[in-house]
Amino acid sequence: MATSQKFGGNWTEEKLNIFTSYLDAYLIALQNQKFKKIYIDAFAGTGEIETSDGGQYLVGSAKRALASEKKFDHYYFIEADSQKAGELQDMIYAEFPRMGRIFTIYCGDANDKLAEIISSVDWSYNRGLLFLDPYATQVNWTTLENVAQTKSIDAWYLFPFSALERMLPKNGKYDKWEDCIDRL
Ligand SMILES: C[S@@+](CC[C@H](N)C(=O)[O-])C[C@H]1O[C@@H](n2cnc3c(N)ncnc32)[C@H](O)[C@@H]1O
Repeated sequence: MATSQKFGGNWTEEKLNIFTSYLDAYLIALQNQKFKKIYIDAFAGTGEIETSDGGQYLVGSAKRALASEKKFDHYYFIEADSQKAGELQDMIYAEFPRMGRIFTIYCGDANDKLAEIISSVDWSYNRGLLFLDPYATQVNWTTLENVAQTKSIDAWYLFPFSALERMLPKNGKYDKWEDCIDRL
């Protein structure tokens, strides 16, 4: 397995296991509902992860979502890095050839592309599961407001608490990081 995505450690698998348990339960809970079901992975990566120490290969969120027993009606993946977006596309065509018509990959910023997706879907007839797994402070508060106003999306946000903690000063002056903290 070769992937340009290298990060994480033991907790990475743990968090993905917890999220995919929810994803499976979500699909069971909605299986007899009239809504179309949409999966949105806004920091999708390549679908495969090599841990930072090079010791472990893990299945990433995108591949886990595609591999679930019950299926979504459409899968949206957003990834800022064009190489990773390309690897993700290659992986899907190779490993999920029957799903070629029900996924869309956007290469760009999660906030911008998520806004495009949200405005293109009629939320009266659709329900969404959104996974926000940024490295750091990339998710804007306004994006969460936009997600919330649909009243139709379950959002999982792995909040970058350690990044926020590093921006909180010991001397009480917030000037340097004030804009970033407000945006977050
Ligand atoms: C923590 S990784 C996500 C891992 C993924 N959930 C998985 O399980 O494989 C964060 C990903 O977000 C991408 N990224 C960074 N900034 C971004 C942005 N502003 N918009 C979209 N993707 C971004 C990175 O290239 C990286 O692949």
